[in-house]
Amino acid sequence: MLAKRPPLGWNSWNTFGDRISDALIREIADYMVSEGYRDAGYEYLVIDDCWSLRERDENGLLVPDPKKFPHGMKAVADYIHSKGLKFGMYSCAGVMTCAGYPSSYDHEYTDAATFASWGVDFLKYDFCNFPETGNCRVRYQTMSMALKATGRDILFSACNWGRQEPWRWMASVGAQMYRSTGDIMDNYVSFTGIFKSQLDNFCMSGSGCFNDMDMLTVGMGGKGNVGLGKVCTYEEYRMQFSLWCLAGAPLMMGADLRSLSPEYVSLMQNNDLLRIDQDEECRPPYLIRRGAVTASNPEPKEGEFPWRQIPDSAFTFFRHLSGGEFALAYVNFSDAEAQIHCELVDLGLPVTSGYALELRDVYTGETLGAKTDFFNPTVPGHDMKLYLCRLVKQP
Ligand code: GAL
Repeated sequence: MLAKRPPLGWNSWNTFGDRISDALIREIADYMVSEGYRDAGYEYLVIDDCWSLRERDENGLLVPDPKKFPHGMKAVADYIHSKGLKFGMYSCAGVMTCAGYPSSYDHEYTDAATFASWGVDFLKYDFCNFPETGNCRVRYQTMSMALKATGRDILFSACNWGRQEPWRWMASVGAQMYRSTGDIMDNYVSFTGIFKSQLDNFCMSGSGCFNDMDMLTVGMGGKGNVGLGKVCTYEEYRMQFSLWCLAGAPLMMGADLRSLSPEYVSLMQNNDLLRIDQDEECRPPYLIRRGAVTASNPEPKEGEFPWRQIPDSAFTFFRHLSGGEFALAYVNFSDAEAQIHCELVDLGLPVTSGYALELRDVYTGETLGAKTDFFNPTVPGHDMKLYLCRLVKQP
């Protein structure tokens, strides 16, 4: 079965855009192995848009740009496979890709056969330049069938940006993941907006077909194709990665792995975080509470309080994991430090139950002992706390 758990890998778009080549892809493959990503579970190496010539050949086939890929795509695939990785490529359901290259509308069976002949294992399928008269569901279903017809296992990564509520139907056309939002940018507002926009859809994501909140920008530091706005801090990138894991989302790294600082290498290979993301039960997180951060208002004007409310900024989540474990997250989306409240009764654990939650901080490894009644940690602005928990008898 493809995508029993959320797919993990790397995609060229966020950092490189059209600056892709045979040499770059081989180097990334090398780094995925030498820096431990492959062994941590990152499997797919995906070339995004801008890999082909601007025209099909005389037989109507897509042609890799010989300047970028002088040995053709089969050679790239062979190299990637020789490293124990899987190879992903990109096309589009419209008449041209977003960057204006030929795409697969009315060429689905030809192109799927081409991809299969090169040894492709994953197809990201975009939505630009889709004809107004076209039927989106039918076209994604058509490419899905074309991939099946090749007889090769090709993971279908359907990217229609959340248009026409894909969480309601993408699983039914055979896709293994569906992009649920527009493009991520490498800044805090972008990734927090994406996460919040999907809260109601996490229940429509799971084994076989996952909600794809877009490629990660973790560690990009504003350097790349989707750099826009204020550069993220370490804590903000840690929040992005943790939220994606909490949601059980596909993790497609987007940073330049050749120059990533060590803290991001360890973040994206953090065993506890990956274990949460990859949990075999693939359950969505349970939203315990969505509230406001109360921040100080040091110079209140007349009629104002010495504190202010920042709405929709304090979130608590609980996620059931396999083996009797749980994840508990306190997210502070505001820019002010705050104590975030969680009454354990709100996650189904009244004091009278006789049970307590034993917590371990995922980021520090610290064990916090058994909690009953409530647990209200203080969380800096633009940061979160994440705990792995177990039920124990009350002390
Ligand atoms: C967008 C897509 C991006 C990237 C880009 C390539 O439509 O959402 O993830 O693939 O096209 O042009």
